[in-house]
Amino acid sequence: MLIHSLEQTTLCRGGFRRTALHFKGSHFTSMPIGPASCPQLANCPTVIVMVGLPARGKTYMSKKLTRYLNWIGVKCRVFNVGEYRRSAVKEYKKFDFFDPENKEAMKIRKVFCEQAMEDMIGWLEGEGDVAVFDATNTTRERRQLVLDYCQQEKNFKVFFIESMCDDPEVVAENVKEVKVNSPDYRNMNKDEAMRDFLERIRMYQKSYEPLDTQHDKEKSFIQVHNVGQRFLVNQIQDHVQSKICYYLMNIHVLPRSIYLTRHGESELNIKGRIGGDSSLSFHGRQFANALAKFMEEQDVNNLKVWTSQLKRTIETAGGFHAPIEQWKALNEIDAGVCEEMTYEEIQEKYPEEFAMRDQDKYHYRYPRGESYQDLVARLEPVIMELERQTNVLVICHQAVMRCLLAYFLDKNSDDLPYLKVPLHTVMKLTPMAYGCKVESFYLNIEAVNTHRERPKNTDPLRKSEDALETVPDHY
Ligand code: F6P
Repeated sequence: MLIHSLEQTTLCRGGFRRTALHFKGSHFTSMPIGPASCPQLANCPTVIVMVGLPARGKTYMSKKLTRYLNWIGVKCRVFNVGEYRRSAVKEYKKFDFFDPENKEAMKIRKVFCEQAMEDMIGWLEGEGDVAVFDATNTTRERRQLVLDYCQQEKNFKVFFIESMCDDPEVVAENVKEVKVNSPDYRNMNKDEAMRDFLERIRMYQKSYEPLDTQHDKEKSFIQVHNVGQRFLVNQIQDHVQSKICYYLMNIHVLPRSIYLTRHGESELNIKGRIGGDSSLSFHGRQFANALAKFMEEQDVNNLKVWTSQLKRTIETAGGFHAPIEQWKALNEIDAGVCEEMTYEEIQEKYPEEFAMRDQDKYHYRYPRGESYQDLVARLEPVIMELERQTNVLVICHQAVMRCLLAYFLDKNSDDLPYLKVPLHTVMKLTPMAYGCKVESFYLNIEAVNTHRERPKNTDPLRKSEDALETVPDHY
C-alpha cells in the first residue's frame, strides 16, 4: 500500500519519471542517448556522490564541504536521501528496513533516492553549480543509477567521495554523538537506538561494494580512510574536484575552539576614519590587557595567536606569551582611495561610489582597493590553515572578521558585510556535530561603535533587518 502511493507521487513528477522509465528499458547500456554523446563542458554542474556505510561521517563532510564551496562562491546544496525517507515514512520501526533482502523496503528506498535525485537535477539545471548527493550509495547498482541519470542523461560531472573507517571506536563514538539523536529514534531509549543502529550498519555491510581501483578506474573519486589518515584519489576531472580533494585533506575532527576578535579600539576608530595603520587608543590598550587575561582564564592547550600585519592587531597581542604569527592576508579590507576617510567624507567626495557600495556591498570594490569578495579570496589560505590547526586566537579587523565568521556560521554573501562584530568582544567558535557553537564575550571595556547599518530600501526583496544582522548565540 505504501509503495503504491509513493510511486504515484513519483509518477506525478513528470519529466524525471519519464526519464527513469526510459532508462529502465533493456536497451540502455548499448544505446548512447541525448547529451551523453556531446562533449562535457568545462563548467557544467557537478554531482558529488557520497559513498560509505552509515556513521562514516558522510553527512558531516557533505555539510562542511557545502559550506566551504558556498563561501568561495560555488553554489552548492546537499540532497540528503534520509531526509526524504523521514519526511514520507513518519514511523521508523527497526533496522530490517535496511536489509538488502527486504525487497519491499528496497523498492521504497529506491523511490526516495529517485525523488532526491529529481530535485537535485532540477536545482542543478537552474541555479546550482554543485550538488552533494548524501546517501550511502554502497552498491555498484545504486552508483550506476546515479551515473545513468546524472552523467549519461544530463551530462553533469560526477565525483564520488567515499568515507571508509575500520576503527570501531570512531564509529561507535559517531553513533553515540549523532545517530542516536536522529528523529528515527525519538521513541527509543539511547541504548536501544545504539543497538538498532549498529544492526543497521550490519545490514549495509551485507551488500557493501567499496569503490575499487580496478572496477572503478574510469570514475572520478576520492576515498578517505579513517577520518583523513590516508587518501586515494582517482581521475580528477577539474579544478572544482581538485579543490574538494584539497579541502578534504585539510580538515580534521579533533576537539578545539577558534577565538575571533577584532583589535582593540584604535586612534582612527575614535575619529570615525576607516582603514589606515594607527595605534591603539587608551581603551584599546585596556582591551589588549583584558584579552590576555581572558585567554589565560580560558586555559587553552597549545594556543596560537594570529594577527594581521597592522599595528593595531600586533599591539592587541602585546600581552601574550603564546606563539604569535602575523599574516598579511589578515589585514583589513583595502579601502583604496577612501582609506582614512570618514563615511560622511566618502559620501560627499564620491557620492556615486558610496551609493554603489550600498547597493551591493559584497561585490563593490573600492577604487584602487578591494571588495568583500576579494577579501574572501584573500582569506582562503587562512581558513585552510585554521582547519588544520587546533586552538587559535585570531586578532583581526571588522571586515576580515565578518568574512571568517561567515565561513564558520554559513552566512550568505548578502548578509556577510553586515554581520555585527563589535569591538572588545571575543567570539568563541567550537565545532559541534554538524555546525558550530558560538559564544560571545564582551570584555567590558568601552569602545566606539564602528558598525554602519544596512541602508533601508536598497533591496525590497530582502529579509527583515533583525534576521540578517545578528549572529546567534548557538548555530
Ligand atoms: O571602521 C573600521 C573598519 O575596520 C575599517 O577599517 C574598514 O574599512 C571598515 O571597518 C569595514 O567595515 P564596512 O565594510 O562596514 O565599511
